[in-house]
Amino acid sequence: MMDVGRHPKIKLLAYSEVEDISGYVGNFKVRIRKKARYVDETQCTSCGDCVEVCPVVIPDEYQVGLGSRRAIYLPFPQAVPSAYLVNAEECMGQNPIACGKCIEACEKGCIDFTMRDEILQIEVGAVVVATGMDLYDPTALDEYGYSSYDNVVTSLEFERLICSGGPLEGHLGRPGDLKFPRRIGFIQCVGSRTQDPERGNPYCSNFCCMNTIKTTQYLHDTYPDVESTVFYTDLRAFGKGFEELLMRSRASGVRYIRGLPGEIHADPESGDLHFMVENTTSNRLESHEFDLLVLAVGAVPSRSTETIRQMVSLSKSPSGFLREAHPKLRPVDTPTKGVFIAGSVESPKDVRECVTQASAAASRASILLNKDRFSVDAITAVVDADLCTKCGICAGVCPFSAIQWAKGEPAKVITAACTGCGTCAAECKFNAIQMRHFSDQAIYAQIDAMLEENPGESIVTFACNWCSYAGADTAGLGRMAYPPHANIIRTMCSGRVSPEFVWYAFRKGAPVVLVSGCHYVDCHYIDANRSTTRRIDGLWDGLEKAGVDPGRLMLEWCSAAEGSRWQHIMEQCEEKRVAVSEAEIKETRQLLNEKKTPGPRNPRSRDEHQPAEFRCLVCGESWDGVYQASQERICPVCRSNSVRWIRVKN
Ligand code: FES
Repeated sequence: MMDVGRHPKIKLLAYSEVEDISGYVGNFKVRIRKKARYVDETQCTSCGDCVEVCPVVIPDEYQVGLGSRRAIYLPFPQAVPSAYLVNAEECMGQNPIACGKCIEACEKGCIDFTMRDEILQIEVGAVVVATGMDLYDPTALDEYGYSSYDNVVTSLEFERLICSGGPLEGHLGRPGDLKFPRRIGFIQCVGSRTQDPERGNPYCSNFCCMNTIKTTQYLHDTYPDVESTVFYTDLRAFGKGFEELLMRSRASGVRYIRGLPGEIHADPESGDLHFMVENTTSNRLESHEFDLLVLAVGAVPSRSTETIRQMVSLSKSPSGFLREAHPKLRPVDTPTKGVFIAGSVESPKDVRECVTQASAAASRASILLNKDRFSVDAITAVVDADLCTKCGICAGVCPFSAIQWAKGEPAKVITAACTGCGTCAAECKFNAIQMRHFSDQAIYAQIDAMLEENPGESIVTFACNWCSYAGADTAGLGRMAYPPHANIIRTMCSGRVSPEFVWYAFRKGAPVVLVSGCHYVDCHYIDANRSTTRRIDGLWDGLEKAGVDPGRLMLEWCSAAEGSRWQHIMEQCEEKRVAVSEAEIKETRQLLNEKKTPGPRNPRSRDEHQPAEFRCLVCGESWDGVYQASQERICPVCRSNSVRWIRVKN
């Protein structure tokens, strides 16, 4: 932190908040609120005279509430700049000055209550998001007694208790009565690795096992009298030197018991804690008693991440952590060009991994900034200004805000920001947007070629480049046999599939059309596949109105690793293809050639959260629910995504 503060090329803005980020790679504009510290940071020598006279006492966040601080304080001992600040909301010396004791105590005259927040506008070429993670709050897990008993603490609280800079200055004592805890129990996986959303998160928090092992080793070395016992489901010590540390911890006498405790009770007199646990190694029910219990709590996404995520259009995984552009090939890049991620904002990590990622993100950003020119993949969107009706719909659907539009002006694509998903081209009803290398003309030519001979034998399949197309590859590599009638048209994203392509395929005699892409949260273009769902909803409606069985249009999500799912989807499509007779195909062609294709009825925002009936177009199952555009629809019986919704009127 000191090195960063002193570095001539790094400008550190402490006690500041990012309010807005606009622009695109190489040209980001960032608005920052630099909060008023009410202390001149260039003059303050952190002598502490002001702190001694401040009458306001507040729980100290840095000591996780186990210690206290004043309204004028140093956020943490190694803070850079090493200067005090006044929290305006806590201080009683604000407007009118009612106290002002700190002003009197400061000989250098650093305190200035007339300071105001400053708004800074800066221009940057790249952005690295490293907003970290928060810890899981175990209050909801009643049986562990975290909110009822003082001597049940989280791993972070325990860290502060044993730290020489902590509230007890390194003299180990339990919070309830400051008694030295001779028997300490550690409970692992608190709020982690559970399928019950009421009890935590399904993912492993990665660092808890090693943190507990390290702590037990520290206790053994510093307080040889302490008996440590660890309760776990399984221990994960998979990094360099980690297994060796676990062995050392075991060898030094720490007990490891496989099994998690039931309800914890505290003795009202002594404050000691006892519980029963099923030891799944010995298959015995055991009773245990401890002076202090430490809950190894898991991690959750940081509260501040969501705001930044929306500012720079990033996608997140179901757990809420930010998603990288590619887990293996671009682990610190994001789908938004010029934006990188580092550390636990991507998933829970230990310090070593965070440092590795931070170095990688800094390198990726400097590679970008050291170029004179930025090259983009030649798959971007192009607007034909003559055809553009200036409606601006394309700008509204672009997941990357790469289309500039002003009322009365034709849309304009910012090529550097465009990622080539094709959502805008699919949305434009006036064919005013074309995608380089994935033009309408090229896609129509592929449909023509597929349906030129024996159209009844062809399943016209649109597959997104990143997941479904790769899923088909995985099925092939795994030698999974599936019916050979699917002809694949590769698009970068399922969001590129324009409704006109589907109508055209049916008009040309396709028995079945399949649109497939990444699972809802996996789309490489943030949420472009939600536009796909919206369009398919409209198409199903339109097909029904036109007298065509909507079940002939299928929508399925398949990831790159799901070769067997791709095989299953192909089998379902084949079943449907066989069921569509030549006469039906002929009738569809006639109907669609005679009629003007009916316009799709897309769900509107008013449909959100409305009661709806859902019907699977593959197996026919139907059920009641609530319509939510952001939710992936899966048939509970056949796991298909070809699920139609029908609005139920109250
Ligand atoms: Fe696969 Fe968007 S990238 S659906």
